[in-house]
Amino acid sequence: MSSASTAPVFIPASQCEVLFSEDEIRERVRAIGAQISKDYAGESIVLVGVLKGAAIFLADLARSIEVDNTFDFVAVSSYGKGKTSSGAVKLIKDLDVPIEGKHVIVVEDILDTGLTLSYLRKLMLQHKPASLKIATCLDKPERRLVPIEADYVCFSIPNRFVIGYGMDFAEKYRNVVDIRLFPEELAGK
Ligand code: PRP
Repeated sequence: MSSASTAPVFIPASQCEVLFSEDEIRERVRAIGAQISKDYAGESIVLVGVLKGAAIFLADLARSIEVDNTFDFVAVSSYGKGKTSSGAVKLIKDLDVPIEGKHVIVVEDILDTGLTLSYLRKLMLQHKPASLKIATCLDKPERRLVPIEADYVCFSIPNRFVIGYGMDFAEKYRNVVDIRLFPEELAGK
């Protein structure tokens, strides 16, 4: 077997510093779920998760919400985060169920430059929902390229590369139960 490989380095998640523990995440997700339940008391809501990163946050958030809710998923092309990126976002999986007249919350794992959510917000509004809000597990405000804010945020963080709780490096580590800092030198940032 050749020793040459282009595969990204894999280091055990246990070697990465914990930024937010499983308990801290659970507590914040419950708080956001309680806030949403209060804000939408007596209503029905549709949670729209953005694949793939938001899948785990959405699963926990949906189970923390007491008001009537359904969920759906969209997927967008990863536009690449390199310096030469056009920043163009494309939809690669649309909604399965109409959202016209519904109260919609778009659910993200991380709000970074804002390009993805800015694109999705415009797209969702074209479907004429009764209302549209954004929930994100993490917010990196200093990375923002376009003006957009989330209505519900679990944690605001500095510009560090994170993994776990749905967030990946080269598709790995999404299953890690807490949120950890991935070494910048390995992330190639
Ligand atoms: C991440 C994240 C958001 C987007 C946020 O997705 O899930 O969708 O980046 O970044 P932005 O604010 O700069 O647009 P990614 O492209 O890594 O795909 P993934 O969800 O499959 O991990």
